[in-house]
Amino acid sequence: MRSDQATPVKLSDYRVPDHVVTQVHLDVVLHPTATRIRATSEVAPHRQGRAGAPLVFDGDGLMLASIAIDGVALATDAYAATPDRLTIHQPPRGPFRLTVETVIDPQANTQLMGLYRSSGTWCTQCEAEGFRRITYFPDRPDVLAVYTTRIEAEKKAAPVLLGNGNLVEAGDLPDGRHYAVWHDPHPKPSYLFALVGGDLAVVTDSFTTRSGREVALGIYVEHGKEDRCAYAMDALKRSMRWDEEAFGCEYDLDVFNIVAVSDFNMGAMENKGLNIFNDKYVLALPDTATDQDYAAIEAIIAHEYFHNWTGNRITCRDWFQLCLKEGLTVFRDQEFSSDMRSRAVKRIADVRLLKSHQFAEDAGPLAHPVRPEIYHEINNFYTATVYEKGAEVIRALKVLIGETAFRAGMDLYLARHDGDAATVEDFIACFAEAGGRDLSQFFLWYRQSGTPEVSVATRHDAVAGTFTVTLSQRHRPTPGQTDKQPMVIPLAFGLVGEDGRDRPLLDEDGRQVAAVITLDEPQKTVTFSGHPTRPVLSINRGFSAPVALKTDLTAADLAFLAGHDGDAYNRWQAIQSLATEHLVGASRGNTRPGGADAIAAALAHVIDGAAADPAFAAQALTLPSEADIAREMGAEVDPAAVFAARKTLKLHLSASLGDRLAALRERFATPGPYSPDAASAGRRALVNVALDLWAASGDDARLAVVEARFAGADNMTDRFAALAVLAQHPGARREAALAAFRERYRTDALILDKWLALQAAIPEDGTLARVEALLADPAFAMGNPNRLRALVGGFATGNATQFNRPDGAGYAFLARVVTDTDPRNPQVAARLLQAFRSWRALEGGRRSLARAALERVAGVAGLSPDVRDIVDRMLS
Ligand code: ARG
Ligand code: ZN
Repeated sequence: MRSDQATPVKLSDYRVPDHVVTQVHLDVVLHPTATRIRATSEVAPHRQGRAGAPLVFDGDGLMLASIAIDGVALATDAYAATPDRLTIHQPPRGPFRLTVETVIDPQANTQLMGLYRSSGTWCTQCEAEGFRRITYFPDRPDVLAVYTTRIEAEKKAAPVLLGNGNLVEAGDLPDGRHYAVWHDPHPKPSYLFALVGGDLAVVTDSFTTRSGREVALGIYVEHGKEDRCAYAMDALKRSMRWDEEAFGCEYDLDVFNIVAVSDFNMGAMENKGLNIFNDKYVLALPDTATDQDYAAIEAIIAHEYFHNWTGNRITCRDWFQLCLKEGLTVFRDQEFSSDMRSRAVKRIADVRLLKSHQFAEDAGPLAHPVRPEIYHEINNFYTATVYEKGAEVIRALKVLIGETAFRAGMDLYLARHDGDAATVEDFIACFAEAGGRDLSQFFLWYRQSGTPEVSVATRHDAVAGTFTVTLSQRHRPTPGQTDKQPMVIPLAFGLVGEDGRDRPLLDEDGRQVAAVITLDEPQKTVTFSGHPTRPVLSINRGFSAPVALKTDLTAADLAFLAGHDGDAYNRWQAIQSLATEHLVGASRGNTRPGGADAIAAALAHVIDGAAADPAFAAQALTLPSEADIAREMGAEVDPAAVFAARKTLKLHLSASLGDRLAALRERFATPGPYSPDAASAGRRALVNVALDLWAASGDDARLAVVEARFAGADNMTDRFAALAVLAQHPGARREAALAAFRERYRTDALILDKWLALQAAIPEDGTLARVEALLADPAFAMGNPNRLRALVGGFATGNATQFNRPDGAGYAFLARVVTDTDPRNPQVAARLLQAFRSWRALEGGRRSLARAALERVAGVAGLSPDVRDIVDRMLS
């Protein structure tokens, strides 16, 4: 932890380092509690640095064992070493070789940053600032060095020794020890350094790149899990091929290894040639993983692999540029998944995620720009805004400048900045050049926080045959930003005629116009001709811009679009809007008569046409979540009323669509053995969403059918879907099924996470007590991030009524877990605390209870910079 926690880091303060390191030799002797690291760096003054400046290297909790320059030990008055900084007062004016030795305790490293142990395996996590917990170093992404790593260990404890790059040497040593030397020829920042030592099993394969390079692929897992790696390996090979075809990016080493570990703060890490993964995103078998797990594995394997170009070969100049690699790489993995699966369904899933996480973030006290300009703790900026909105901004750019210019801009970026530590300005300049246009207004997407609101009003003139669309944009104030400028918002659209077909888009002079309106002023009016009858406007097709839309579409228009819009995304959006409007009203105690029937009719239409795309139908049948409804309400949210409104609608649909829903089980049953492919997954998704709606009635005969499906399922997707339905209905069936699931997977922690999360989400008064009891279940472990996220995170983010109990006990529980976890693992604690991010939108009673809980956290002495930063922003 840094001692300068109170001083924020500002983008405007950036300056080049005074010293750079061009080469590093690391000599690591692994030991459970006393691992010795000797780092020999070739150091040189930076050409643009301050001449004669002292050398200052970062550290975090380090102890210096020895220090030498060009082989000569330094006199004690020539340097100062504290746990978080090494200063050499008067370093040589020219290049020199610095050797520092540190000793660290991986076993005691519960933060899971730097070098730590996970189930006996030594592994590392260096992004963002973990390398400084291993050795003193200029731990910033604009210092690029060539790394050679020698790892030595007791052979029995760590038969496997892995590093970045290619293996150049390995051998046995006396006393049952051995070593391996890895060399990575590509200069890289320290955050991409990794090493692994442990007793692991490996699954191997190979890939031949388009230019003929033979790459040895390895996935390392705990012994006995080898049979769970096939899907990840397949996804890796598909990613490697796709990146060549879609972006011309070819792999550049002879080896690509992935290691799955069970203690990991995030999803995975793109270390050069040695990706380290949360095992949740590697391991899958039909009996252990759901279709959603398979899709997540595919996406994250691809994401980390794609970083090899967007992140590693072109890295970030500083951490303010995080979206340069993350937003772009999310965009790329979304495109990959769209090509592997159904593009429309992937788009819907991504927008759902964006709205539930990013829109919520943007609407609350933690809102920040895609490219922040100030931070206290960088670990708190691995956010939905940087990742998901960062990807949306690139997608909007593509709509704005067109496919050809976009591809040319990407090619230019990859060619021009290969080997650089770049900025977002560098990136956007490539598209400005390739597209031949000024993108300075577009750049506001990176600088202004908050979700832009776009209002749309239409007017039809039957006599003139014109249809006029007036658009306006509005930007609410967000933390630190009160005055905002109008942005450039590309809105794809169509005008849908009575027959359900898109009409030609003609301006007032009858000339054909493009199917995108670019809103780049506070307000804009566009008039179309050739409309003797009123068309229905379908706007922001494909969710072309990440904005919140307010339209004047009537319920009848929405129902029409739901059935006819040529844009699948907007067909889905129309149903969501119809349902959301109804549910927001109902949550406030005003229901419009016939509202539920209109939704039922739209869903009946979806069910009848489901064969065209079952996965799409499954998305369309999924009602807006409680969080979706709360977000639309914006303020004075009563989570109990939201739940009740949603429940009432479900009961209505369960009754009115009962037979139709039941028939889907037969119609879309997946024949033969389980296969995770998108088409089969889509059929299962449809059947299971229908099962949930059908059983919502709580009718005992229906629940008996669900119970039978649970018992008879031959794959995790169907088994867990049935269990999730049963979990909604109190009684013996539920408890028996939960116990059976627990027993079946008693040795499989990753699967029991599902079991923990499911119980944490039960919307009943008894759930908090259940969660507290589960803290003592052997399936739970406070020190493991996956367990914590499943049980405590599942409760705080997946259970709106119980986390927001009117007595505040849910808030108090979370505050307690956060303060307990903080000393051990600040990153995970800070992440859990973000469940409060929408607290200001709650109704008064809950709002003051949430504030009290946050104030209790804020009052704890010795909080980590991570939690301190979140709680301060949350309360400011
Ligand atoms: N770069 C990783 C990714 O692709 C995330 C690592 C974040 N780690 C952290 N400690 N903040 O998503
Ligand atoms: Zn990433």
